[in-house]
Amino acid sequence: MSVYLNGQFLPLAEAKVSVLDRGFVFGDGVYELVPVYSGKPFRLDAHLHRLQFSLDGIRLANPHSVAEWRERILQLIARQDFADQSVYIQVTRGTPVEGQPLRDHAFPHGVSPTVFMFAQPLVTATPAQKAAGVCAVSALDNRWLRCNIKAISLLANLLLRQQAVDAGCAETVMLRDGFLTEGAASNIFVVKDGVVRAPPPSSLMLTGITYDVVLELAAAHDIPHEVRAIAEAEVRGADELWMTSSTKEIMAIVALDGVPVGAGVPGPLAMRMDALYQTFKQQVMRS
Ligand code: PDD
Repeated sequence: MSVYLNGQFLPLAEAKVSVLDRGFVFGDGVYELVPVYSGKPFRLDAHLHRLQFSLDGIRLANPHSVAEWRERILQLIARQDFADQSVYIQVTRGTPVEGQPLRDHAFPHGVSPTVFMFAQPLVTATPAQKAAGVCAVSALDNRWLRCNIKAISLLANLLLRQQAVDAGCAETVMLRDGFLTEGAASNIFVVKDGVVRAPPPSSLMLTGITYDVVLELAAAHDIPHEVRAIAEAEVRGADELWMTSSTKEIMAIVALDGVPVGAGVPGPLAMRMDALYQTFKQQVMRS
């Protein structure tokens, strides 16, 4: 497998980073995950735009222009021998140089960011998995207040997600101050009486690329939808709950904390949105 590290394509085993890299020592970096269908990256510009937003959020200069990113990512994709890929992109604040403290909270001067990318086969849910849906648990969102930065320091998300895993479920639905924020690694949509609802983008959640596509598809296909704060009672009283992400796409949550959501099976709007999403993907692949 060929990975990308700081300007070079290398076999995975040869890609090495210093143990002093601030990504390793502090979790000081940001990332993106771009799905690739039949060799074509999906919504790459939106991912690169969000990467810029994350870099700005942590005060790290973007080491590449959009054109440079695009070229490198397309080269990485072309080097893989599988067509559907999940491309992981990570930029950290780099490794202190000679004469600098080995570990110092303050940003080091004159250090180049570390840029690391790899591709894995993209494994999306099978039709049978989509038809079954998944269960979720709820938890208090105890993360920091800058969740719109796609930071590699994901410890809070990991601990929250593990609560779902421990309960045999797929996702943790997070609530802050009585309102829905998002999933530990996804955005959450609520359906009630035929209306699709999503919380508004804010610093309390990551604005998913999939989230944006879902809202665009709802608008394009006259599916009633609303972007507004969603209270916990609306989550618990939903007819349908969905989780969305680049890898999960649109996945119905059929039980929350052991209580069936609606009829306890994927609802009609989840199935419709998934069908629209799949068609949209096919169009992108053909374009
Ligand atoms: N995570 N919210 C959080 C906290 C996430 O980690 C993700 C995705 C999303 C959905 O974003 P998008 O639709 O752009 O994938 C929302 C990725 C898949 C990950 O960390 O692996």
